[in-house]
Amino acid sequence: MNAFFPQVAVVGAGAMGRGIAQMAAQAGSQVLLFDQQPEAVAAAIQSVTEQWQKMQAKGKCSAEQLAGWTAGLKAADSLQALAGCNLVIEAIVERLDAKVALFSALEAIVGESCVLASNTSSLSVTAIAKPLKRPGRCAGLHFFNPVPLMRLVEVIPATHSDAAVVDALTGYVKSMGHTPVTACDMPGFIVNHAGRGYGTESLRLVGESVADFATVDRILRDQMGFKLGPFELMDLTGLDISHTAMESIYRQFYDEPRLRPSAQAAQRMTAGLLGRKTGAGFYRYENGQQQVPPEPPVPQVAELPPVWVSPRAARRAELYQLLKNLGARIETAQAPSSQALILVAPLGFDMTTVAAVERLDPARVVGIDMMLDDAATRRRVLATTPATRRDMRDAAHALFASDGKAVSVVRDSGGFVTQRVVAHIVNIASDMCQQGLCSPADLETAVTLGLGYPLGPLAMGNAIGPTNVLEILFNLQTVYGDTRYRPSPWLRRRGAIGLSLLHEEE
Ligand code: NAI
Repeated sequence: MNAFFPQVAVVGAGAMGRGIAQMAAQAGSQVLLFDQQPEAVAAAIQSVTEQWQKMQAKGKCSAEQLAGWTAGLKAADSLQALAGCNLVIEAIVERLDAKVALFSALEAIVGESCVLASNTSSLSVTAIAKPLKRPGRCAGLHFFNPVPLMRLVEVIPATHSDAAVVDALTGYVKSMGHTPVTACDMPGFIVNHAGRGYGTESLRLVGESVADFATVDRILRDQMGFKLGPFELMDLTGLDISHTAMESIYRQFYDEPRLRPSAQAAQRMTAGLLGRKTGAGFYRYENGQQQVPPEPPVPQVAELPPVWVSPRAARRAELYQLLKNLGARIETAQAPSSQALILVAPLGFDMTTVAAVERLDPARVVGIDMMLDDAATRRRVLATTPATRRDMRDAAHALFASDGKAVSVVRDSGGFVTQRVVAHIVNIASDMCQQGLCSPADLETAVTLGLGYPLGPLAMGNAIGPTNVLEILFNLQTVYGDTRYRPSPWLRRRGAIGLSLLHEEE
């Protein structure tokens, strides 16, 4: 018997409702499942039962558990049947009017103390709760798909939610073996808000022709350890879902520039290039197989020129060591010789600006992204100025690929690829902390469990160094003149005094 909610109802037996019902039964609740389409309930119960049988076959549950859970999950044939429940979780169609109508009808059926929870992913929980006679009993309980595998649940207090209701829901999530985080009732809650940076900034890089989508995917996978590149991820989710979420969250925050979606994505959505489900998105899919454009080959260069490194290069000592390891001829004079390949390694600035400011010959300048420790990445990223000579570009490509590590050469832009995308993710997360939308610890948990990022966004900022993230953002703001890159005050304060981004107190 579950200590928090012994009698639970789940309304809506679709993809989410069936998973929620499964976890509720596994947590020891007696579960009633209701749907306006009775056949959806039967299909859901059958599918959940099959999941349990598979679990038992794999030794993940006992025969007694299987019997108990199966006996505890029943179909309800009307809303009236839910009268004795302590908790109703709705996972019906994502429409405010439908959710309000359902909860209003339930208020006339269930007891005074019954909690009403909504699995909405994009509506205001406060808007769902406000029309109720007792809005204090309502809160958000946002599960992720597929519910049994995705361990994260966002618990969302609406403006009027009783603290005891929120505490009980949090305890209930733990009793399911899932991980609760507390999210403010603001657009996107935690995960869908924090996740905006990855796709939108990558779309901008492609929109500016800095690199094609497959190259951006390769760079972010190989440099930062993302499991899926942003374009693979959008193809998996479907652009109809991702772009719609991007637009909705952007508009709900009154056109916050950091969350600005991409006009290119809107056009692709109109064209039906939605991703895997339509057979074509950013990638094409043949028999379900992603078709990946080949990487450009490493150029053959007979003789490599000597290399001179800008005194202002990021991680300069490490760059020298890398060049030594690669057997490069290194020039150490104050200025480059007339044959030298000139290496720069800026944070946030574009190669052309660096060449102009440092009075370097732009025809021989090549940039390398040194934001991350070279040993920690599986790919090096180079960028040229518009004037960089072909032989210099090829020489740099061949040199940095000579130990077998993958190399991508991108067009000139502030921040290469990883600097831009990661600084943007860190900045959005920092601003969520500034706004108090969640605790820094819950932000990290939500992003790692909900989005599968290799690190939480604040830990990413720590890995790069908060001062470096700030430098990248300040310089991007100069290059683009766009308030999109203005650093959040939360990040500025921590960067200014070199404080860890996970430090909570102020
Ligand atoms: P779905 O379309 O698979 O299932 C919805 C079910 O609700 C259908 O079986 C439908 O017959 C039933 N239904 C609709 N209106 C009803 C009503 N008034 N009374 C009773 N039953 C009703 O939808 P899905 O994907 O399961 O989503 C459900 C909710 O969960 C939505 O609010 C959605 O935004 C949210 N959500 C969805 C996620 C996902 O990845 N699919 C993730 C997190 C939240």
